Order: sequence, then C-alpha cells, then structure tokens
Amino acid sequence: MSIERDLRNPYSWYDEARNKCPVYWDHAEEGWLVLSHELINEVLLNPKFAARADMSFMGEVAPTLRQHFESWLLFTDPPKHNVLRKLIGPAFSSKRYPSFERTLSDRANTLVDRLLLENGPFDLLSQYAIPMAECALAMILTLDGQEVANAREWADDLLDFINVDFSPEQLAVSLKALNAMTKIVKDKVLTSKASFPKGTILSTINQAWSQGEISEVEAGALFGQIVTGMLGAVPHLVSNAVLALVQHPAQWSRLQSNPDAIDGAVEEFLRYDTPFLLVTRTSTAEMTLGGVALHPGDRIGLMLGAGNRDPATFEHPHALDVERRPNPHLSFGIGAHFCLGAGMTRSIASVAIGTLTRRVRKIELHEPVRFRQLFGMRNAEELMVSMEAK
Ligand code: HEM
Repeated sequence: MSIERDLRNPYSWYDEARNKCPVYWDHAEEGWLVLSHELINEVLLNPKFAARADMSFMGEVAPTLRQHFESWLLFTDPPKHNVLRKLIGPAFSSKRYPSFERTLSDRANTLVDRLLLENGPFDLLSQYAIPMAECALAMILTLDGQEVANAREWADDLLDFINVDFSPEQLAVSLKALNAMTKIVKDKVLTSKASFPKGTILSTINQAWSQGEISEVEAGALFGQIVTGMLGAVPHLVSNAVLALVQHPAQWSRLQSNPDAIDGAVEEFLRYDTPFLLVTRTSTAEMTLGGVALHPGDRIGLMLGAGNRDPATFEHPHALDVERRPNPHLSFGIGAHFCLGAGMTRSIASVAIGTLTRRVRKIELHEPVRFRQLFGMRNAEELMVSMEAK
C-alpha cells in the first residue's frame, strides 16, 4: 500500500494510514509501520520483538558509529539490557541531584526576566527551551559552559546522522562529534580521579567501568543517549507545547487560571505533539500482528505520534485538552525500554512551561513555524514569539 506522506503534517497521514491498515508495509522504510495505540502497546510489551536494530548498513563506512549506536540501551536486548538498566537506572532519578527543580526554576525565572525586558520577537527554542535543557544537562553530568556547548554540537551531529543524512560529509561530522565525546567520557568520567557524588550518573558509570561491568563503548553510548535525549528532545517538547498553547488560547487561559494543572498538562503536551515520533523493533519469530504475518528479521516502526492520536483510545484525539484524563500516551514508550529520562523530562517541562504560565500574560507567534522534514522526530526549526508580562 502506498500512502502519500507529508512530514510537515504527519498527523493527517497517520490518520489516513491507520484507517486503511494499522500495520502496513512501507516501501521507503523497508519495514512495517504500526499506527494504532493498541498494536503499538502489543509490540512494546511482547519480548519476541527485539529492540536491536540492523545497523549493518553503517558497517563498512562507519564501524565506530555503528558500534556506538548498537551499544545504546535503546537498541540492547536481554540479558545485557536488564544488567545495564539495573545498574544505571536509579541514577536517572532527579532526587540524586540536589536542588534539581529549584535550580531549573531559578534558571527559568532569569531567562523570562531577560526575555520580557527585551520586548521584541525572539526564538523561544534557542533562547528559552534549549537553555532550560542545558541547565539540566549541566547538573546531571556536571558540565561547564564550554562542555555544554560542545554537548549541543555532539547531540545535533549524532542525531543528524541517524535522522537525516548518511552522506560522507555528514559521516565525517558525526564521527568527529563521537570522537570528541568519547574523549571527554574517558578523561572526565572513566579515568578521572575526581570523586563524584554517590549515586549520580557519573559515579555509577565510573564505578561500573572500574569494576569491568561496562565497556568504554557502553559508557560512551550512555552519554550519547543522555545528551541526545536531553538536548535533542526536551527543548522540542517545550517549544511544541508553547506552540500548541499559542494555537489554543482557551487552553492557555485554563492553565493560567489553574497553575496546579501543569503536571497533567505536560502529559497532554507529550501526547499532543511529542518530539520523538518513532521507535523501532525487529521481529524474532513467525508472528501475526493486526492480522499481518511477520517473519523473523522484519523491521517494525512503531509510530508513537500516530498511537497518541488514535481515536479508538483518545476522545477527540486532535484536540488539545490540558486536563485530559486518562492520558495513556506512548511518548516515553512502555515496558522494558520505558524512557529513563521521563522523570527528569517531566520536571523540566513542568518548570519551563509552568513558569511561563505564571509570569506571562500573552504569547504571540510572529512567524509561521517550519518543522524539519524528519520521519522520526517533530522538531521546529525555531519558534519566533513575543511575550507580555502579567
Ligand atoms: C521529551 C523528551 C523525551 C522523550 C519524548 C523520550 C522518549 C523516549 C522513548 C520513546 C524511549 C523508549 C524507546 C524504545 O522503547 O525503544 C526512550 C528511552 C530512553 N530514554 Fe528517553 N525521551 C526523552 C528524554 C530523555 C532524556 C532527557 C534522557 C536522559 C536524561 C533520556 C534517556 C533515555 C534512555 C537512556 C532510554 C533507553 C531506555 C532503555 O532502553 O531501557 N530520554 N526515550
């Protein structure tokens, strides 16, 4: 079946495809795409679908990058996955980082002070959402300003390689980013004599590596995932949420009159326009899914953004409702690979958007938003707005 895809407005082609067939063979992706909430759940909870992805296409040109991505927790299966997740999982709790929310809140207020003073259109993505995520990244990985700037480049260069471009030029850029990141992980974390606060990501990686529980490549892969999750996804969650509020003034008013509703609203922003639209699996046996026969080795793309707008699960799925209950969105995945950064992401988004709703009366959009043409991510290039103080 062939379905015209408009990557700038994926939600309408998701609907069209789901209506025709919630599991369909996509020629461009050379794999099955799954679009219904129920079937995405089914796949995520069935261990016969492996998380490992076939990256052999990277093999000859980019063995180092292939080794790096293959070691991401995201693409690892049991027994390795269970061991790594048990080891590192607890260090993702924001409670391990003293004053996490207070520091974010101070940063948000300082940024809003400055943006309100400037009094002109500004890019909310680069001037607010990215600095908020950078503040969190600096806290959890104890990075200084220059290191955070480097991390932003690594995140962009690694994600561009996965998402956009396998050209030799991009390959060279991504490889350079990976080598720079690997060096920092080695010098700053693995072989460092510094004493890291107990239970944090750095101390856990340092200890696990010293005791031979993880390899240098696995340590680098964890870093890569943290940096790309924090800088590649969190800012876009915040900017997609602000765009949604600007486009739904009644929901903005609801949130302003009930600031305590922010945590539930963040769940709705995650559902309504998540930055990560896709996760992948590989079938490991003969199976059927939604009446379709699958064979071992088949690639499956789970379209989280489509599941999040499935009318069989969500009433009025295309409406933004900041008090929607229940809200079983799929944006952090479910099951064994549920996002380890979910708690931190929720805190950052809650502080970032909550601060705006408390301090800003009105946000106005100044230019139509251009989304990047990506199959698996929902990223605005910029979000030009102006704000009026309350
Ligand atoms: C808006 C923000 C984010 C979204 C939408 C998101 C989404 C996801 C999703 C969908 C998965 C599951 C993938 C699968 O089942 O294959 C995942 C896994 C993961 N995420 Fe996130 N993520 C976000 C932020 C973060 C952050 C900030 C971090 C790190 C601090 C992070 C670290 C991870 C890790 C380590 C995994 C792998 C877990 C595993 O495989 O066991 N994520 N994320």
